[in-house]
Amino acid sequence: MLPLALISLLQAQLAYSQSSVQLSLSLNSLYSSYSFAHTTRPTLFSLPTTQNASVSVALCSASNSSAPRFFLSNSSSITQPSEDDIGQDGVYEVVVGNQGYGWWTGALSEGGFLAVENAGQTSFQIGVSEESPMHDTMDAFPLLGDTASNQGLLFSPPLADAPPPNIPTYPNYTLPSANLSYPSAPPSLQVNVSVFVVPTSALASASMPLTACAMSSSDIQGSIMIDDTGSANNGLWLKDQDGWRWQWLVSGLQPQTNYTAYVVQNETKVSQPINFVTKSATFSCPIVHSLPYCPSIAYAVPLVAPQFPNIAYTANNLPSSVVSPLLEVLSNFTTSLLTFPCGRDEYSPLVSCADCQAAYRKWLCTIWFSRCSEAVDQPTNTDGSVQKPMSALAPQASSATPRSPGLQPFANGYTALLPCIETCTAADRACPNFIGFQCPVPQFNAALSYGVGFIDSGEEGVQGHGSTGVAQDRWGNVWCNAG
Ligand SMILES: *[C@@H]1O[C@H](CO)[C@@H](O)[C@H](O)[C@H]1NC(C)=O
Ligand SMILES: *[C@@H]1O[C@H](CO)[C@@H](O)[C@H](O)[C@H]1NC(C)=O
Ligand SMILES: *[C@@H]1O[C@H](CO)[C@@H](O)[C@H](O)[C@H]1NC(C)=O
Ligand SMILES: *[C@@H]1O[C@H](CO)[C@@H](O)[C@H](O)[C@H]1NC(C)=O
Ligand SMILES: *[C@@H]1O[C@H](CO)[C@@H](O)[C@H](O)[C@H]1NC(C)=O
Ligand SMILES: *[C@@H]1O[C@H](CO)[C@@H](O)[C@H](O)[C@H]1NC(C)=O
Ligand SMILES: *[C@@H]1O[C@H](CO)[C@@H](O)[C@H](O)[C@H]1NC(C)=O
Ligand SMILES: *[C@@H]1O[C@H](CO)[C@@H](O)[C@H](O)[C@H]1NC(C)=O
Ligand SMILES: *[C@@H]1O[C@H](CO)[C@@H](O)[C@H](O)[C@H]1NC(C)=O
Repeated sequence: MLPLALISLLQAQLAYSQSSVQLSLSLNSLYSSYSFAHTTRPTLFSLPTTQNASVSVALCSASNSSAPRFFLSNSSSITQPSEDDIGQDGVYEVVVGNQGYGWWTGALSEGGFLAVENAGQTSFQIGVSEESPMHDTMDAFPLLGDTASNQGLLFSPPLADAPPPNIPTYPNYTLPSANLSYPSAPPSLQVNVSVFVVPTSALASASMPLTACAMSSSDIQGSIMIDDTGSANNGLWLKDQDGWRWQWLVSGLQPQTNYTAYVVQNETKVSQPINFVTKSATFSCPIVHSLPYCPSIAYAVPLVAPQFPNIAYTANNLPSSVVSPLLEVLSNFTTSLLTFPCGRDEYSPLVSCADCQAAYRKWLCTIWFSRCSEAVDQPTNTDGSVQKPMSALAPQASSATPRSPGLQPFANGYTALLPCIETCTAADRACPNFIGFQCPVPQFNAALSYGVGFIDSGEEGVQGHGSTGVAQDRWGNVWCNAG
């Protein structure tokens, strides 16, 4: 009797001579068929020996009649598994699902083989890992900042935790300065991330697999894929306590078009999709983002167009006539707040001066940076009733006094998307009474300056009725400006 290891070695060699090409896949390797010329593409692969294997496959291009099939053997006696071997011990089909990927997990205690049948011109990937399958869908969603007529500001799902808040203590109760500096060094990421943006209608008619490799090789007209190379408008950003996200300002989009966006991680894992609609061609408010002192601002603001070659405003090119008074107001507010013996006495068992400053900052930023939007057709039910509530929009004539104390009148006029009232009530709740911060009352005039009743239920008979529960959704509806 030959030792078992030698038998399988001989059989491996035999398999090698039987099939046209064979390739050994090692653990944690990702094989892409398109890295080979069509004529020399391997169709039989040997798999490494491991107790925990995840072998995943993904289609990278549309396949019509000839969908490839993948057969796996983890038995050393079946070296070229095929459909005929199904039913035998140790032979499995790796079934490719609707999205274009599939996987097998189990033990490869004697190694194994993966055979590809019917691949034709369809390109594919194989991932071998000791952990979860390489090709997979993530539960997380990208986040839309805002759109302009040919731009979309998009964020990846959180990639790293936010740093823990710095909680000041008495007697050295120091609050962050009004001009917040960029939070301590961003993390070095253990993940690659890119965004795929595609016109929704083109994606629907393309019959493209929804896999990462299909996205990166997509030739759908108007589709865009951007990786995580940093630039003036792309990079890691700590928008809020949800954590660090990658931010992209995607340009070159068509006006008034529905887009679908996916985020791809580690070149193999695909997020859930979000949808958004670009603004009409006449929309003229530029996008403002990446302001350390107002970290959550990431939307279109009624400002004159930034100077070429800038395509948006960041802390680097926002005029000081807008920023300086904002920082002065915030700084004066902080001074007043600190007349309270913060950290020694409490004005509430739930919140502190630091919470007050943070909530006030968010409110002030949201008020200071008015948000531009546009009326869109609201989806209607079959009986003609409006299915979703109207957004909190308020048209601003070019001659109107600016809503923001920090902005000039906007020559073109625009439609404002009002701040969510919850941004105001959060500051009201977090701050001590002596500060005198007050929000307008829903029954009276609040709806003139705020989006009322979208997130919290608010009062009966009030606009919105808390019907959405959120400021925006994954379909691109934005009801009020949550800042
Ligand atoms: C294999 O997976 C099991 C369960 O997930 C785990 O307990 C074990 O540590 C893994 N072994 C290796 C070598 O990764
Ligand atoms: C499959 O697609 C290829 C290229 O997209 C095309 O040339 C071929 O005719 C299609 N075959 C069938 C049966 O639809
Ligand atoms: C093949 O995989 C099956 C399913 O995971 C497992 O029960 C079996 O032990 C494996 N065989 C070998 C030889 O590793
Ligand atoms: C007070 O706290 C701030 C911020 O935490 C720190 O920079 C400063 O050195 C402290 N001052 C004293 C006197 O401890
Ligand atoms: C805010 O701080 C940054 C450096 O952290 C500085 O470059 C900038 O000039 C400051 N802005 C104002 C208005 O003081
Ligand atoms: C990406 O790869 C890194 C390193 O291999 C790993 O730590 C991380 O969990 C992976 N992330 C995803 C989403 O697969
Ligand atoms: C990210 O991409 C680079 C270059 O493509 C690669 O060298 C690196 O290993 C990748 N990292 C992860 C975690 O996938
Ligand atoms: C975007 O898609 C939605 C839902 O399919 C549709 O109601 C809407 O009219 C589309 N908008 C544009 C601008 O194409
Ligand atoms: C901030 O406080 C200073 C000093 O009290 C005052 O002169 C200034 O007008 C205040 N600025 C604003 C914007 O309230």
